[in-house]
Amino acid sequence: MKVLVVGSGGREHALCWAIAKSKKLERLFCAPGNGGIAQIAECVDISAEDIPGIVDFATSEQIGLVVVGPELPLVAGIADRLEEAGVKVFGPNAKAAMIEGSKGMMKDLCTKYDIPTATYARFDDCDAAKDYVRLQGAPIVVKADGLAAGKGVILCRNKTEAHAAIDLMMTQDAFGEAGAELVIEEFMVGEEASFFALVDGENALPLVAAQDHKAVGDGDKGPNTGGMGAYSPASVVDEAMAKTIMKTIIEPTIRGMAADGIAYRGVLFAGLMITDAGPKLIEYNCRFGDPECQALMMRLKNDFLEVLEAAVKGELDQVELKWRNDAALTVVMAVNGYPGGYEKGSEIKGIEEAEANGAMVFHSGTKADGDKILADGGRVLSVTASAPSVAKAQAKAYDAVAKIEWPEGFCRSDIGWRAINR
Ligand code: AMP
Ligand code: GLY
Repeated sequence: MKVLVVGSGGREHALCWAIAKSKKLERLFCAPGNGGIAQIAECVDISAEDIPGIVDFATSEQIGLVVVGPELPLVAGIADRLEEAGVKVFGPNAKAAMIEGSKGMMKDLCTKYDIPTATYARFDDCDAAKDYVRLQGAPIVVKADGLAAGKGVILCRNKTEAHAAIDLMMTQDAFGEAGAELVIEEFMVGEEASFFALVDGENALPLVAAQDHKAVGDGDKGPNTGGMGAYSPASVVDEAMAKTIMKTIIEPTIRGMAADGIAYRGVLFAGLMITDAGPKLIEYNCRFGDPECQALMMRLKNDFLEVLEAAVKGELDQVELKWRNDAALTVVMAVNGYPGGYEKGSEIKGIEEAEANGAMVFHSGTKADGDKILADGGRVLSVTASAPSVAKAQAKAYDAVAKIEWPEGFCRSDIGWRAINR
């Protein structure tokens, strides 16, 4: 089978890496890919957001399966357009992807189907939003309704901060259209976990859980990023907790969407807060997490392409997922300045040396320039290792990080601390 992966990050490198191992694979393409992906797939110069370009390529190359990494093309309808053209696709259609595309819609779904989540209200009026904050008090969370590249959530310690957040989104239009509507919600206390399920419209198959580190600095301090590291397993999500999450959150969501006429197909990623009162939904994403995906793909034993095919065919009830007992941990190396402004183009050396001890260096934002690998994004590498415990995987990943020669880059030094301290 010919497969096309859409996207250019570490997540897509890990997806390509897993698919490349499949017995069923004939040729692997990635649009647009990156410097690392180019070593295992044929990169085609089409942006992940160029939907007509991707549909044209998939039809003319007779691609058997398109696997979509990022949320933007999914929310924009890439799965719909591919299906119309007769191309099989792993990823939800635009209606189903609204579970990530509109936080307000996601929250309303939770209310309708009794899915545990933070108490909330929706606003399209600045004054009404501020009145609600006065009434509720703080801490409180202000969220832009639409996609804002992970930046549209502001945790507010007091009313002044909350009013400023409302002004930033609604008056100053900091997130454009995405901030025209807001969700304002209760601040939840607990431990976060990333939970994934493959869904074929009817059946939901849970993956192993992971945890990521969103803050840029050690000790989970500083501004939020796309994720500076992740690991799996996540000890807060033991077998009993995973069952509860499936029963109270994932399954009612899939059933509820189906009852509303929306068949969810693809991976459903629940960002969870494990509170004293049980697991509660923070948000849904319509895609794999990055960098969680890198850790998950290291642990998966199945032929991943076969699993994806089963999801697309509606046959997930016939799949049994098998996981390595070993833990996997990924450390993101970002360019100095990230998540603020940064420069592109610095050279990275030592990747082969870093992989010599069995670690995998997934590329998150690189480009090849002849034999050289250059930084080409904010998050640049995801150095991933697996070992019998999170602590050992951490040691192995940081050994590999130490071999990377890249003065312009940095990483956190404590990925996995929560699991290791426990
Ligand atoms: P989101 O983009 O919705 O995942 O939010 C980004 C981060 O903000 C989450 O990973 C949490 O750390 C935090 N967050 C979002 N909503 C809440 C909430 N209601 N209570 C506490 N923390 C939250
Ligand atoms: N690492 C979190 C995300 O992909 O949204």
